[in-house]
Parts: sequence; structure tokens; C-alpha cells
Amino acid sequence: MTEDRAAAAAAPTSASRVAIVGTGAIAHAHQRVLDTDPGVHVVAVADPSTQVRDAFADQYGIHGRYGTLEELLAAQPVDVVHLCTPPGLHRDQAVAALRAGAHVVCEKPPVLSLAELDEVLDVAREAGREYAVVFQQRTGTAAGHVQRLLADGALGRPLVGICHTLWFRRQEDYYAVPWRGKWATEGGGPLLGLGIHQLDLLGFLLGDWAEVDARAFRLDREVETEDTSTAVVRFANGAVVSVVTTALAPRQTSYVRVDTTLGTVEVEHLYGHDARSWRLTPAPAVTGGAPEPAPDAWALPVDDEPSGHAPLLREVYAALRTGAPLPPVAADPHRPLELVTAIYASAALGRPVTPADLAPGSDLRGAFLHGVEDRRDVGAPA
Ligand SMILES: NC(=O)c1ccc[n+]([C@@H]2O[C@H](COP(=O)([O-])OP(=O)(O)OC[C@H]3O[C@@H](n4cnc5c(N)ncnc54)[C@H](O)[C@@H]3O)[C@@H](O)[C@H]2O)c1
Repeated sequence: MTEDRAAAAAAPTSASRVAIVGTGAIAHAHQRVLDTDPGVHVVAVADPSTQVRDAFADQYGIHGRYGTLEELLAAQPVDVVHLCTPPGLHRDQAVAALRAGAHVVCEKPPVLSLAELDEVLDVAREAGREYAVVFQQRTGTAAGHVQRLLADGALGRPLVGICHTLWFRRQEDYYAVPWRGKWATEGGGPLLGLGIHQLDLLGFLLGDWAEVDARAFRLDREVETEDTSTAVVRFANGAVVSVVTTALAPRQTSYVRVDTTLGTVEVEHLYGHDARSWRLTPAPAVTGGAPEPAPDAWALPVDDEPSGHAPLLREVYAALRTGAPLPPVAADPHRPLELVTAIYASAALGRPVTPADLAPGSDLRGAFLHGVEDRRDVGAPA
């Protein structure tokens, strides 16, 4: 980075003229939060679907309307670009927006490989702009509280855990969207599109991972990717976690659990959590005895803010305005993408994968491996 650009990166920047690219489902969550910030004006949107774009722009009173990001960037200056487009577009659109001098707030998954992520972050550094990724399960007062308890050792040593993304996505509607279920455009299956949220929260709570042993299956849906995956993830702190991710579970739940030497931490919800979603249970003093009262320090916050786009975008915009580094809720998107990459790689290679396998320059860093066992005809009526 040149000195000028390094100085620009540390300086406060304007974050008032905002553009949203891709005006489908999740764009509304961004717009609703941005509408609550008096310092922000969504001045333009881009989406090739005129109908979707105009309906969105009419609903929120947005003047600038374009078919593509390139047209938008050529037509008017913007400070921040929100990417709410299909995952296969994120890399090129992020690079274009950063090179045009805008910060980027990108929906998960950030891009389709660790090498693409390295590239986008390099461009951001060179441009003196930020690239913030939306992993909103890390946000919320309760998640931050539990993360600190684990990091400080107040919950003892993490031993064993569960990370479930048991969601239900139908063929007829969810997978009828052309970009879904395909390696080229969605990048992966429910592991990348859905489970990455829980993997991100798991990594936020437990830190660095050490080994992944996984399998990926196509059990029912007509997709190129997996519809179900299983993994055992060993963390650097010694904890061993069983991960199940599927799009086939009619009673849906998102569940993360960590059992430590002193107690059990659980969060169960679907698309967002607050203090009521979390439960901390102390270990009984005597095996089989009643649980001990929880230590005062474990008490979940009463001034609770749920997880979601609102706390994430508020903290991101505060950083953009002051020139501070991105907050922990939006910084370093590598870990969840590493876990996804390692699960796909382990399933394809049939062996455990470690961080060394994903070192810079390795083939595994460049693309997800496609190693899905197709089991759709097993157990089907003759
Ligand atoms: N954080 C979350 O909880 C969450 C939830 C849902 C989706 N997402 C993510 O948000 C992204 C979008 O998902 P969605 O469900 O809103 O999809 P969607 O299909 O509803 O919307 C995507 C929009 O992008 C538009 N688009 C396509 N090509 C474009 C281009 N070249 N330029 C501009 N716009 C283009 C489409 O016309 C469509 O309107 C995905 O990365 C998805 O994983 C995140």
C-alpha cells in the first residue's frame, strides 16, 4: 500500500451515500436498518430485474436505479456499496466497488474460495477501503457475553460440542431459483449457504480450529451440490464438535452447544437469537446431583440486544465514519470460510484436513472440492 493509501485507510471517511446492489430478499433487511440511520442515504440501487429493482426503489423512495453495478458506479459517486447479490458475483463486484473508492458491505458467503477472499482483502487494503462481511450470528449482547466468558476461562475448558443447522428448503421454491444448488453460482450447498452462520458463531466462541473430518451427501434434492453434510471439528483448545448441516429437516432449528469442565452453554433459535435463546447450566457438584446455582458472572445480560443486521451494520458504520478498524462482528471472514473449505475438502479427499492443508498457495485454498456422495436412490421404493 502507498503511504497515501495507508493514511486514507486510517482516516475517517464519509459513509453517507450508499448503494444497494441486488434488491432481492435480503436487501430489505439492509435497507430497513439503513433507514434508521439519519447519517445514511441510500441513493441508488442496481439489479438487472427491472421489476424487482423498481418495486424496491419505489417502496423506499430511492432515486438512482441501474441495471448493473458498473452503470451505477459510472453514473454517481457512492461511499458504501452493499452487495446483496448471489454469491458467485461477490468477488468481481467487491473488487469493482473497492477500486471505485467505495467501502463494501457484503452478504455471506463473502466469496467462493479462500484465494478469492485473500484477493478481495488485498484490493481493499490497496484501495484504503474496508470489506465487511455480514455474519450476523456473531452479533447480539448474549453472544458477546458468552464469547467473553469462554475466552476468559470463566466457563472452564471447552470439551465437546454440537453445531446443528437443521433447516428445510424445498425443491419447488427455494431450489427453483436458478442460481441456487449449483457450484458455479451458489458456490456450495447448505453448508456454504446456511450452515456457515452456525460455523461462524462456533468459531467466534471457540477460536482456531485444528482438524476437520467430514462427509457430504446428496440425499434428496435435485442439486449439483450436497444437501446434507456431517463433520467432526477439533479446535485448537482441544474441544471436539459434531457438525450437521442439512436443507432436509422439517422441524427446523439452529443449535450450538459447548460442554465445558464447568458447565453447558447452549443457544437454540432459527434465524436469530437473543438472551432467551441462550442457556448456561453449571455442572452438578456431585455426579447425578442437582445442578449448582450458576455463578453471578454467568448471568445473561438484561439490557439484551438480539443478533441481527442492525447491531452489525451499526458497528460497521461507526467504524467507517471514524476510520477505526472493522469491529470483531465484521472483521476477518476467514475462519467460517476455512471451516466450509475444510469440510468440503475432507469429504472429497476422504481424510482429515488441517489448517496446513489450506496454506497460501495450496490447491485447496483456490476452490471448494466437490466430493458429494449421491445417495438419492438408497431406500427409495422399488
Ligand atoms: N445474512 C443472512 O441471513 C442472509 C439471508 C438470506 C440471504 N443471504 C445472502 O444474500 C445474498 C442474496 O440472497 P437473496 O436471498 O437476497 O437472493 P435473491 O435471489 O432474493 O436476490 C438476489 C438479487 O440479486 C439480483 N442480481 C442478480 N444478478 C445481479 C447483478 N449482476 N447485479 C445486481 N443484482 C443482481 C437478482 O435479480 C436478485 O434480485 C446471498 O449471498 C445470500 O447467501 C444472507
